[in-house]
Amino acid sequence: MTIQTVPVALGARSYEVRIGEGLIDRAGAEIVRLLKRKRVAIVTENRVAPLHLARLQAALEAEGIASSALVLPAGEGTKDWAHLARATEWLLEQKVERRDVVVALGGGVIGDLIGFASAILRRGVRFVQVPTSLLAQVDSSVGGKTGINTAQGKNLVGAFHQPSLVLADIGVLESLPARDFLAGYGEVVKYGLLGDPLFFEWLEVEGPRLSTDAALRQRAVLRSVEMKAGIVERDETEEGERALLNLGHTFCHALESATGYSDRLLHGEGVAIGCALAFELSQRLGLCSQEAPSRVRAHLKAMGMKTDLADIPGELPGAEALLALMAQDKKVIDGRLRFILARGIGQAFVADDVPGDVVKRLLTDALQGKAG
Ligand code: GLY
Repeated sequence: MTIQTVPVALGARSYEVRIGEGLIDRAGAEIVRLLKRKRVAIVTENRVAPLHLARLQAALEAEGIASSALVLPAGEGTKDWAHLARATEWLLEQKVERRDVVVALGGGVIGDLIGFASAILRRGVRFVQVPTSLLAQVDSSVGGKTGINTAQGKNLVGAFHQPSLVLADIGVLESLPARDFLAGYGEVVKYGLLGDPLFFEWLEVEGPRLSTDAALRQRAVLRSVEMKAGIVERDETEEGERALLNLGHTFCHALESATGYSDRLLHGEGVAIGCALAFELSQRLGLCSQEAPSRVRAHLKAMGMKTDLADIPGELPGAEALLALMAQDKKVIDGRLRFILARGIGQAFVADDVPGDVVKRLLTDALQGKAG
């Protein structure tokens, strides 16, 4: 299968996202042009390492690139101060210098954590993202948002630090558990919903075949990355348009917080439920027809994804408490809740003045659906 390239044009911080099957086996040839000396430090996690680390190191070795690797525990809990310290000190022990390159091999947790470690190490070293989850390939590995979670919330400490290269190997998605693949699909659908109705239409037809058809999967990743790259090029630091990428995220962050960032709700699952709620909210505010939220929910259901609050196992707090969690979201500006709403499929926009009582009623109804 051919390897496709999406350029991310950001002046001196420009880079390429390479997308295709077998890219890990070509990693040495892809990365060597970035190196001043043939040595890299890799950070990964213990679910990914047994699947892909040896292959990556062999590919580097084939180009004469020496590598050392740190394997951290898998899971969101790793995106914290303790593992940031551990990774940063390990990179220093490996004598990584400013001219060197760090490789982040893993999903969003490793990409965000190691991107941030690279941002602060020696005031900034270059890093390469090798995303191994669908979510990381279509979203978190592109655009330079890096950071960790703290007791106060998710991603509240971090930096914009663009990678020097992203290698999205479509083949690795085959080894993903079905639940993780579908969670990543939540972010794929988001691109159609926020700005490309034809992509959403295509997903309505082809979505169910993505997990088994590599060519379709590549097309979905490519279109998602193209959309993300375009948005990041126009608004790197989220002064405006980039906020559209947070479609569904205000609801999602509240639900993730309410479920303790646990296995009860994966981030991408929360995004999917959040997108369904954002369209429902848009309809209640008279911004779009009833057809739009119905189509969103129908497609998510057809994919076998979580769509409603009832699909989240266990108890949830009441509407008031969920609203309070939303108010803690970092997208709050001057105490007002910010939502990404839509005038239709593919027509999202930022709304800063959403009446709280409408949101509360929506949540109350959604929770009643859960109770019923
Ligand atoms: N994941 C949202 C963004 O990169 O802006």
